[in-house]
Amino acid sequence: MAWTKPMPAHPVVAVAGATGAVGREMLKCLEQLDFPASEVRVLASARSAGQTLPFAGCGQVPAGELTIQEMTEESFQGVDIALFSAGASVSKKFRQAVTEAGAVMIDNSSAFRVDPDVPLVVPEVNAAAIAEHNGVIANPNCTTIQMVVALEPLRALGHIDRIIVSSYQSSSGAGAKGMEELQVQTGQYLAGEEFEPKAFAHQIAFNCIPHIDVFVDGDYLNDVPEGYTKEEWKMVVETKKIFADDSIEVAPTCVRVPVLRCHSESINIEFDRPVSVEAVKEALANGTHVTLEDDPANNVYPMPALHADSFETFVGRVRRDHTVGDDKGIALWVVADQLLRGAALNAVYIAQALLPQE
Ligand code: A2P
Repeated sequence: MAWTKPMPAHPVVAVAGATGAVGREMLKCLEQLDFPASEVRVLASARSAGQTLPFAGCGQVPAGELTIQEMTEESFQGVDIALFSAGASVSKKFRQAVTEAGAVMIDNSSAFRVDPDVPLVVPEVNAAAIAEHNGVIANPNCTTIQMVVALEPLRALGHIDRIIVSSYQSSSGAGAKGMEELQVQTGQYLAGEEFEPKAFAHQIAFNCIPHIDVFVDGDYLNDVPEGYTKEEWKMVVETKKIFADDSIEVAPTCVRVPVLRCHSESINIEFDRPVSVEAVKEALANGTHVTLEDDPANNVYPMPALHADSFETFVGRVRRDHTVGDDKGIALWVVADQLLRGAALNAVYIAQALLPQE
């Protein structure tokens, strides 16, 4: 059954998981986009209840301190939009309470992404899918979002048959605890101290770990070939769903690297027809929320250290993949702040798309 409750022009917005790495960025996005909220309610676990978070204000909400409330089933009374980033189990636990309260849940976790009745949305690519929601809209995985934002402008040049992608994912992808572990462990390593990895399976300081999330064999996603991680298979399944294209083949390798913030991706794409490097650059330069940063002669290309806190997806190193015949192959390098573009900002863009259009 389709969702019929109209969205007010000045919605009440709840941020569920407001103290987390993504939750804090959600608050910043509401501020920076001046989201027309009438109230912003910040929710977290009982551990954080009563503490405050600074807020610069947005819409009808003045600047000041927001007091954190413990998330309970009653928290969503009067809420219109609930931005969730507190983990999949919390999203599953509260889904019913949120939708029964009449709020639309925009969920950053993997809980509902593959459900056929839940749209999986990157507004620059498939905003139209939002209209099909029935109370829940899923925010895709961060590595998938920045890839599809970068590739969307290229889909007008030909059908993308195949993608080979390797990710270089920052420690903040594992939440606030991941970022802290990289910082603390780097100091411990340099001081020659003993340390024990907690947020990651191995040492993250001065290391790369080709293992993000668990190695899967079904469950969340069916028919996973042996040897892939859940993070990798999310990229396969989510790319097909967002592009509404089951024929697109994706071969991912996801790697955690000792970078604080911003994911990078090396992407090789194979089109169904010849496509020139110049046409790709022109399409990227005109892409929505995409910035072409590609001047290798002057050492200009996107790098994660440069782009934390940016809303854009940066693309560089655009070149021919000479291993694909008939000029059908292109290689490129993509960098974006995954906490923003790959999570919080995408969720707030979805919230903007829910507002009544003038
Ligand atoms: P809290 O800070 O009170 O633990 P991150 O992804 O950075 O680890 O953040 C997770 C977010 O989800 C935090 O805001 C955390 O709140 C919140 N959270 C985790 N478990 C629960 C829970 N059971 N109920 C409500 N919020 C939760």
